[in-house]
Amino acid sequence: MALVEEPTAAATLASPPPPPPAHFVIVPLVAQGHTIPMVDLARLLAERGARASLVTTPVNGARLRGVAEQAARANLALELVELPFPAGVDGLPPGIENVDQITDKNHTVPLFDALKKLAGPLEVYLRGLAARPSCLISDWCNGGWTAGVATSLGIPRLFFHGPSCFYSLCDVNAADHGLHKQTAAAADDQEKFVVPGMPVHVEVTKATAPGFLSSPRWEALWNECMEAMRTADGAVVNTFQDLEHQFVTCYEAALGKPVWTLGPLCLANRDVEAMASRGNKPDVVQQSVVTAWLDAKGTDWVVFVNFGSLVRKLPKQLFEVGHGLEDSGEPFLWVVKELEVEAPEAREWLEALEARTAGRGLVVRGWVPQLAILSHRAIGGFLTHCGWNSLLESIAHGVPVVTWPHFANQFLNERLVVDVLRVVVPVGATSPVMVFDDENVPVPWGDVARAVSALMSGGAEADERRRKAKEYGEKAHMAMEKGGSSYENLTQLIESSGKVVAKKG
Ligand SMILES: *[C@@H]1O[C@H](CO)[C@@H](O)[C@H](O)[C@H]1NC(C)=O
Repeated sequence: MALVEEPTAAATLASPPPPPPAHFVIVPLVAQGHTIPMVDLARLLAERGARASLVTTPVNGARLRGVAEQAARANLALELVELPFPAGVDGLPPGIENVDQITDKNHTVPLFDALKKLAGPLEVYLRGLAARPSCLISDWCNGGWTAGVATSLGIPRLFFHGPSCFYSLCDVNAADHGLHKQTAAAADDQEKFVVPGMPVHVEVTKATAPGFLSSPRWEALWNECMEAMRTADGAVVNTFQDLEHQFVTCYEAALGKPVWTLGPLCLANRDVEAMASRGNKPDVVQQSVVTAWLDAKGTDWVVFVNFGSLVRKLPKQLFEVGHGLEDSGEPFLWVVKELEVEAPEAREWLEALEARTAGRGLVVRGWVPQLAILSHRAIGGFLTHCGWNSLLESIAHGVPVVTWPHFANQFLNERLVVDVLRVVVPVGATSPVMVFDDENVPVPWGDVARAVSALMSGGAEADERRRKAKEYGEKAHMAMEKGGSSYENLTQLIESSGKVVAKKG
């Protein structure tokens, strides 16, 4: 832990002490896709001279140890604050502290109930600090339980929203115009609704609509988060002006508060070690196998296939992906989760596929450092579930994508990259695959093969797509460099954080 030294009495005799650095307390949601960008944010703040405290729990803290150690070696004021995980929450087995540990969907709401109980320990921690922090930044989904804590201590509070600004704007507009209720009540799953108040035409169906009102308990949680969003002092989003300028402007207007665009936050990681340690402890052996395999391939040669940390595909869904990749004829690097190939038939099938595609394809099992892979010159395409981090990591590295949204904000993230940015080939998914045991097979292997070939096989259209993707990659890097829009937004945020006066209710 690299703690900032408090000014000593002796120092004050000689000259007035420098003002203490701005201190940001960051409260990520305990899900990989939410935590990773906020860890990047903490690192960036510390690199820019602020102090950053990442609030977490023991299981999640263990995963972040590598990040903390790296920061300490670099002498950065980044620390982990581990709050004890609330015990004895109804319906939650002990040991589960992260969304990705859940294997029974009935444990999801209890996990969120447990998080609410962190309000007390968070307040104790904040009250115990020598000085009041400058600012609290909590995940949009933690808004409900952190708002009261920030208010009672008089600390300004920003919310961090993980998806594209385009999605977040759709969500606010849908709420403001009552669209959520209409889509939730739709009898026909494919009935189309226009999202009101958008600067471009956006259509959604019940399955692709923003918000998560699938049950009364989720609706209650969603309402609390919406309320906390309305009472926050501003928003932090992981995007950049050149990518989403018009939606950022509209989002600021719709919220009536500042929106800080600080991304792509993944570019805070400049070396492979930082890229590999940001989300989880990397498997060093597997990583070196992957790197050696990629090193032997041509530039822009391989399509990377990974569907994010949450989705667990059933064997019949894996089958469509695998045969699609095989049939595309393109070199591929495919990430399969251990749980997905637990059944002996699934394992045997996959091993046979590996044998048939040996040399051309590599299948890795378990968690991989995606960012390090995407930054490798051999990766020329990405088949993704359209989680915003994945899309943005791809954009930041100039890699064009095949889009296959699975659930939640992913369908609207897809609309942004398809309709507005035009750097993708959609696989053509119109219905979701949920996280647990969803029997739906929305995309047959023929569509996978067609989309992957279209992206990877060359030709005028593919070349133009690749050129555009590289252009966005360059703009992303420029945004994060001195003088760039995200860099300057961060400067502004640090400078103004001490001066923001927390609004009451
Ligand atoms: C972020 O940067 C953009 C462009 O440089 C600027 O227009 C905007 O006002 C900045 N946002 C905030 C909240 O300062």
